[in-house]
Amino acid sequence: MQDIVIDAPSMRSVIHCGSGTFARYAPLIQGNGIFVITDSNVHRLYSDLIENTFAGATVHVIKAGEASKNYNVLLGILRGMISAGLTRSSVVVALGGGVVGDIAGLAAALYMRGIKIVQIPTTLLSQVDSSVGGKTAIDLDGVKNIVGAFYQPEEVIVDPLFLATLPRRELRCGLGEVVKYGGLDAGIYDSLVKNSDRLFSEEFAEEITPACIRHKAKVVTCDERDVGGARKTLNLGHTTGHAFELYYKRRSHGEYVLIGTYYELYIACKLGVTDASFADDFRALIKKVTGRIPSFGDAANAALVAKYDKKNKVQSQISLIVPKERGVCEEIVLPIEQYAALIGECAAYLKGEKA
Ligand code: GLY
Repeated sequence: MQDIVIDAPSMRSVIHCGSGTFARYAPLIQGNGIFVITDSNVHRLYSDLIENTFAGATVHVIKAGEASKNYNVLLGILRGMISAGLTRSSVVVALGGGVVGDIAGLAAALYMRGIKIVQIPTTLLSQVDSSVGGKTAIDLDGVKNIVGAFYQPEEVIVDPLFLATLPRRELRCGLGEVVKYGGLDAGIYDSLVKNSDRLFSEEFAEEITPACIRHKAKVVTCDERDVGGARKTLNLGHTTGHAFELYYKRRSHGEYVLIGTYYELYIACKLGVTDASFADDFRALIKKVTGRIPSFGDAANAALVAKYDKKNKVQSQISLIVPKERGVCEEIVLPIEQYAALIGECAAYLKGEKA
């Protein structure tokens, strides 16, 4: 067990990390009213654990899945908080994956202008990334995470206990974010390469999670509100990943991040940003997690959705964060037409139309 601290300007956030942290820290959560937000999948698996740990709490269950990240579900949560009689000294507990953490975080930020929240992430993706750092959001009009707030959880409890029930697809999704950290941090990259034959094991997830959180904690401590340039590096591969995710909607967020990184590496090599041999090694790592990379027929059209990306200063100039060399990333900014054309070229390359 270890504690990792984010000393962000808005608040100190403590991440309790490791096996046994749920049993040790969850029963200590205190407030005048505990409001647990979870989803239908997590509730089906852990309703007894929830009841036994948070006796007397109100439990609010939302439907599992990304489609729940909308304002109707948010309003349902806020109305539930009013009916439960929560006050400024109550506490919200977000027990679930990225969707639960994002929407519960936003509800906690809005209710009475902000009440305490504790995040208890139950997926690899939410453990290594989304539960940490205080980004909260819902989607609106087909744009991902467009309405939200920076709102730090006072505590995050990251216990691998929940990974035991995680389907392989969810592990792959979380590994998408772990590979992202591999593009930012030499130690994590080396560990991914060294353990490339056991990436899907629970033991590897448990080993790599604190390293990812430590990296994120450093970044968030110095650039909490994503304005200084450091935090946007956490978006490596996400520009194209989010565009594909919104356009195709078939795979998980983490898989689209990996696919997006693959496509962006093609652009980075074409523009001479990334050395071809490092790009080959990084692409081999991506394929260890996803297998074959799809050559989307209308990839250039899908790429146009990237105009909504929050890293862009104007919608016509697309910002990409790409792996440059071991432990180093770089930002590329290019006109949307050139970006879409290169994405289309990569799809064609993947199809074998170009060598
Ligand atoms: N997931 C990216 C960030 O928290 O900034």
